[in-house]
Amino acid sequence: MSERAAILVTRKMPDVVEERLKGLFRTTLNPKDEKHAPEKLIELSSHFDGFMIAPGDAFRAETVKRLSERLKIIATATVGYDHIDVAACKTRGITVTNTPDVLTDATADLTLFLMLGAARRAHEWIDILRTGRWGGLGFTSFLGTDLKDKRLGIYGMGRIGQAVAKRARGFAMEVHYHNRRRLPCELEEGAYFHRDINEFLRHSEVLTIHCPATPETRHFLNAERIARLPDGAIVINTARGSVVDDEALIAALKSGKVQAAGLDVFENEPKLHPEYLKLPNAFLTPHIGSATRETRTAMADRAVDNLEAFFAGREPGDRVA
Ligand code: DGY
Repeated sequence: MSERAAILVTRKMPDVVEERLKGLFRTTLNPKDEKHAPEKLIELSSHFDGFMIAPGDAFRAETVKRLSERLKIIATATVGYDHIDVAACKTRGITVTNTPDVLTDATADLTLFLMLGAARRAHEWIDILRTGRWGGLGFTSFLGTDLKDKRLGIYGMGRIGQAVAKRARGFAMEVHYHNRRRLPCELEEGAYFHRDINEFLRHSEVLTIHCPATPETRHFLNAERIARLPDGAIVINTARGSVVDDEALIAALKSGKVQAAGLDVFENEPKLHPEYLKLPNAFLTPHIGSATRETRTAMADRAVDNLEAFFAGREPGDRVA
């Protein structure tokens, strides 16, 4: 019988998934959950046939170039794979897989949470309560905004965008979207498609971003596009920080052009632009879209499915390289 594949799991995974991994491979776990620097991953690659990785493990071209010939697959337990240079992996013949679908609902839930938090000034109200300033506030102090009857603009109507649309209908919002392609009628469910980006922005009283991070989407939401939003719009981002030009959004939050933002993702995470922390109208979370027990377990399991298929000689379901 041929020897089982050696797999390095770069971060602590849910116990049940670690047990599964141990049953399938010669598995090296990371019980202390210590982050490996790229240099360490390069060094370790000569001892492993596959890596199972997590957000924060960056495989840029200069790292990929120096990985050992032995390493055949990188299975990331994430849907986004902008932390991996996929082209460099293809050149090196390293397979890359991701974990689509299983975090759609958790991410859509967090999107609505941020939308509500931003619209209802959650950051300010929580701060008022915690700093003992509750008493003495008037009938018209710190009023938020209803989501009901607002036009929601969804930028990127893939799996997560569609799950957000479903939830937003429950809040009686009117759904508009911009996407590379118009959806078939049964998936649109009455949402208004705008091919023209300026028309789309003009309708987006609440704008929520659900596109991947690519060179084309970098700084999509810049000063010029913000200017096309209705005055007092709300901006939500649970996709990737690089899609937003921070300087432009911060200026708009200061001027009131954008009344509030709900942000879970930031350019150069975990070092977000420090001005965000000073803004009372920024409702912020640290990239927790998929951070539920059920979803993280499903993501890890899906990464193991891909490793299992790959080493059994089958096509992994979620190959991206
Ligand atoms: C993903 O899976 O891409 C989430 O954003 C976590 O990084």
